[in-house]
Amino acid sequence: LAGGLLQGKRVLVTSGPTQEPIDPVRYIANRSSGAQGTALARALVALGAEVVFVTGPADVPPPSGVEVIRVQTAQEMLKAVQAALPVEAAVFAAAVADWRVASASDSKLKKTKEGLPNLEFAENPDILATVSQMKKGRPALVVGFAAETDDVVENAAAKRLRKGCDWIVANDVNHSTGIMGGAENDVTLIMDEGVEDWPRMSKDQVAQKLAQRIAAALT
Ligand code: C5P
Repeated sequence: LAGGLLQGKRVLVTSGPTQEPIDPVRYIANRSSGAQGTALARALVALGAEVVFVTGPADVPPPSGVEVIRVQTAQEMLKAVQAALPVEAAVFAAAVADWRVASASDSKLKKTKEGLPNLEFAENPDILATVSQMKKGRPALVVGFAAETDDVVENAAAKRLRKGCDWIVANDVNHSTGIMGGAENDVTLIMDEGVEDWPRMSKDQVAQKLAQRIAAALT
C-alpha cells in the first residue's frame, strides 16, 4: 500500500512518567525515560499511522510527525486519552503513578520541628483498564506494557486479563538487566493466542517489531 501499512489509521500512544504534585516544588513519579514509547510512536509514523502522542514529562523529546499532547498527572493523561478517541489502536507505554497525593498543598511544605509531613494518597484512574473496558468505541487493539521484577510472564499475563487489554508487552526491569533508562529491552509479547519471547534487542527494534505486529493486526 502506498505510504505504508498504517496509512489512514489513527493510533494513540501514551509515554513517559506522570508526576503527581505534593506541593508546588515536589512530586512523586515513576522512573521512566519515555524512550520506548517515543521509539514506538516513531515506528508507527514510519508505517504511515496518524499518531496521537500523549506524554508526561519525559527525558527524551517527542518524535516528529506526531500530534503531541503534554500532560503532567494521571488524571490529565486520562482526559487527554479520552479526548483523543476514537482510534484504531492504543498503546499504553506510559509509567503512570498509581497514587496521587490526596490534597496537594498550594504552598511549599515547610520543615518544622513538629515532625514529618503526613501525606495521604488517593488512587489514580487506571487509564489502560478504562480504555480496555469501554463498552462503546473501544479501540480495535489495546496494548499495555508491564514492567516487572519477578515472575515477569506470569504477572504480566494476569495483568492482561485483569485490565482487559488485548496484548501486554512484558519487560523485565530488574536492576541487573539495565533496561530502565537503557537502550535495549528484553520483552515478551503476551496475547490471547499465546506468548512470544523476543530476543534482547534495542528499544528501536522492539518498537519496529511491535509496530509491524500492530499493522498486521489492523489489516
Ligand atoms: O499496573 P501496571 O502499572 O503495572 O500496568 C502497566 C500498564 O498499565 C502500562 O501499559 C501502563 O501504561 C498502564 N497504566 C495506565 N494507568 C495506570 C496504571 C498503569 O494506563 N494508572
